[in-house]
Amino acid sequence: MWKPPERIPYEPQGGPWPTAAEAEASTMFRPLAHGPLRLDQRTWVPAMVPWRATEEGEVTDAVVDWYARFARGRPGAIVVEATGIRDIPSGPLLRISDDRYVPGLRRVVDAVRAASDGRTRLFIQLIDFLSIRRRPQPETFFGRHLRITPALIEALGVPDEAAARARLLAMPVAEAEAHLDARDRDSLRMGYRERVTDMHLPHVRDLPRALPGLFADAAARAKAAGFDGVELHYAHAYTMASFLSAKNDRPDGYGGPRENRIRLPLEVYGAVRDRVGPDVVVGCRYLADECIDGGNGPEDAAWFGARFAGAGMDFLSLSRGGKFDDAAQPKVGWASYPYTGPSGYECMPQHLSDAKGPFGRNVPATAGVRAAVRAAGFDTPVVVAGGLHGFRQALALLEDGTADVVALARQSLADPDWFLKVRLGRGDEVRLCEYTNYCEGLDQKHKTVTCKLWDREALDAPDATRDADGRRRLTAPAWVP
Ligand SMILES: Cc1cc2nc3c(=O)[nH]c(=O)nc-3n(C[C@H](O)[C@H](O)[C@H](O)COP(=O)(O)O)c2cc1C
Ligand code: SF4
Repeated sequence: MWKPPERIPYEPQGGPWPTAAEAEASTMFRPLAHGPLRLDQRTWVPAMVPWRATEEGEVTDAVVDWYARFARGRPGAIVVEATGIRDIPSGPLLRISDDRYVPGLRRVVDAVRAASDGRTRLFIQLIDFLSIRRRPQPETFFGRHLRITPALIEALGVPDEAAARARLLAMPVAEAEAHLDARDRDSLRMGYRERVTDMHLPHVRDLPRALPGLFADAAARAKAAGFDGVELHYAHAYTMASFLSAKNDRPDGYGGPRENRIRLPLEVYGAVRDRVGPDVVVGCRYLADECIDGGNGPEDAAWFGARFAGAGMDFLSLSRGGKFDDAAQPKVGWASYPYTGPSGYECMPQHLSDAKGPFGRNVPATAGVRAAVRAAGFDTPVVVAGGLHGFRQALALLEDGTADVVALARQSLADPDWFLKVRLGRGDEVRLCEYTNYCEGLDQKHKTVTCKLWDREALDAPDATRDADGRRRLTAPAWVP
């Protein structure tokens, strides 16, 4: 992962921790009610893909155990990882693209209800993404993938396509690259990737017709499986975020000015709401800042927030960065990963940082979104995430108007009992995340995600289910209050 050149080391500071009475009296542990959104406390475990589904996208015992383990800490809500809404092979990523997935997902719901004694609300993140290929060998790219145009044949001064390929293959790669346009050069260096602006591709052109129904079908399945609601994934590098992006210049009324860029996200929301009705929670996760040149900034996010709230969304969860645009070049045979560049750092900042540090980088932009939502007359709850791990640190954000709910991703992975320990006045037993991103490295390789603080501990304990090679336990050791 990219790191800021300053490389200033930061250490998480969890304490001072509250007594049980202080915790109980704090805003953090007060219930929240907004429409169908009812939280027992104002804490949240945001979506984290742990790579535990089958290759067909089905729930496994390991998926059930993973969510049950978070639920034992009794956070206000857990959002199940990004789950695919299309019935297409996408590796061990959960899917909700057909009714056959409902029984498996119901097992997750039941396990979370049981483990949290019904205290934790459960949402599922619904994702759509476009096709991406691995970075090719130059020989494969020039020999097969590159589309040879008449202009390229002419520029190379050869008679036909076969001769053009032969000529390019005979050149040093740098010289051959000079004959490519920017898009083909990117496909050679990073691997081919579809964009929402690829209007020459019929299925991309048709996304505004296809996606509302796909999201609505997926949300109906989530409801059938017993989830309390859905989180529409409008963040990071995926389809819906790309529609919102300032880089989206589609000429069909779904790109260009903000009004057009938000059109499909609002249509998707409308279709989902129509399908699931008013009693199911429907919110979205989107970017408070894309953190890329030419992308959306905090002002765009604030404007979108007021529109989403006005449309009736039940919550707005803000993330940051995580784009393909500035991702590092993958090795040949690997796919590009949107968390390897500076915008990826903004999404999951680690302990070597710059003057801003890794804790709370998304706070000012999130506060701007909430302020815009309130100024527009809506009290839609706003969820803040990014480097949160301490009680006072997180509480301050609830008290100073930054957000209504605090989300802890890696800190929950490091210690899923954070919420319970803090509430019981036993914060000094919290295992603090070190923000070294071992977990994120596993995610990048699509390996089962675990935390380095506990994955080699008590491997022979009865609760220690291990990964395929038996070296790591898959969930945090039990904590007995
Ligand atoms: C292993 C891992 C997987 C993640 N998967 C998702 C995901 O599926 N959807 C999503 O919106 N964010 C995902 N994230 C981002 C987190 O939800 C969160 O926004 C980010 O880690 C910053 O919060 P933190 O500093 O509390 O970890 C993931 C993060 C990690 C570490
Ligand atoms: S591996 Fe554990 S300690 Fe390291 S960043 Fe991830 S959650 Fe934190």
